[in-house]
Amino acid sequence: MKVIAKIDELKKAISEYRNNGKSIGLVPTMGALHDGHISLVKRCLNENECCVVSIFVNPTQFNDKNDLKHYPRTPKEDCKLLQSVGCTIVFAPDVDEMYPEEDTRIFDLGSVAEVMEGKFRPGHFNGVAQIVSKLFYAVEPNKAYFGEKDFQQIAVIRAMEREINTGVEIIDVPIVREKDGLAMSSRNRRLTENQRKNAPKIWETLSKSYTFAQNHSVKETINFVIDTLNAIPEFKVEYYEIVDADSLQPISDWNSSKRAVGCIATFCGEIRLIDNITYCVK
Ligand code: PAF
Repeated sequence: MKVIAKIDELKKAISEYRNNGKSIGLVPTMGALHDGHISLVKRCLNENECCVVSIFVNPTQFNDKNDLKHYPRTPKEDCKLLQSVGCTIVFAPDVDEMYPEEDTRIFDLGSVAEVMEGKFRPGHFNGVAQIVSKLFYAVEPNKAYFGEKDFQQIAVIRAMEREINTGVEIIDVPIVREKDGLAMSSRNRRLTENQRKNAPKIWETLSKSYTFAQNHSVKETINFVIDTLNAIPEFKVEYYEIVDADSLQPISDWNSSKRAVGCIATFCGEIRLIDNITYCVK
């Protein structure tokens, strides 16, 4: 496994594979890797001869500078883990390499970027589009892999790809959960012992809401989730929305969408966690 910090060197290493007709897969990450990331890497390795994993905590997507400062960074452990699963190339640049000058590009990401995370984290998705587009230009992968925990992010990256048209195929990979149901996230390591004990209640509540939804309206189901979690002292729900899986626009009636997805962002203490559940696939 090669660990590379410079774009020129990365392009050279990848071209050896591409020139030999090998397919290139990219797994963009911000490090602090867990089994959710590893499932992306394994899928990438199954479908490509060259698997590039990028590790870069991207400053332009953090609207909260405190979150950026405390974002977990575990480069040595990450490389060990990636080596153990057979990753081909780790790309771990520093900020100057990715942003030698300020990136002033503003992407037109459409309505999928305006709701939920887009509303509560202004500038976040434009920052994601900036870094993912730079990675697409640097790696020129055939396929890129993203986890469904960040459900809205995948829709936004598809919108970005339509704009820049690099021809990269975007692959979404299901959420990986801890045994107790908590969606795996690098942020979970920042939870205190008590918060970690309570955090599985997010998925527990979403799962209960699936049954609740069978004979309740969309609005009642939304209230059920928000009220159940807010009744637990550690939690403060930022939003819970039930949206159409393609447009990401809120639905008011179960029959108005082929696939309805409930997306949550909630604080557990000061740690902001997200998760989602699919209600119905017709
Ligand atoms: O999902 C993430 O970890 C990040 O948003 C991504 C896609 C690596 C871009 O920095």
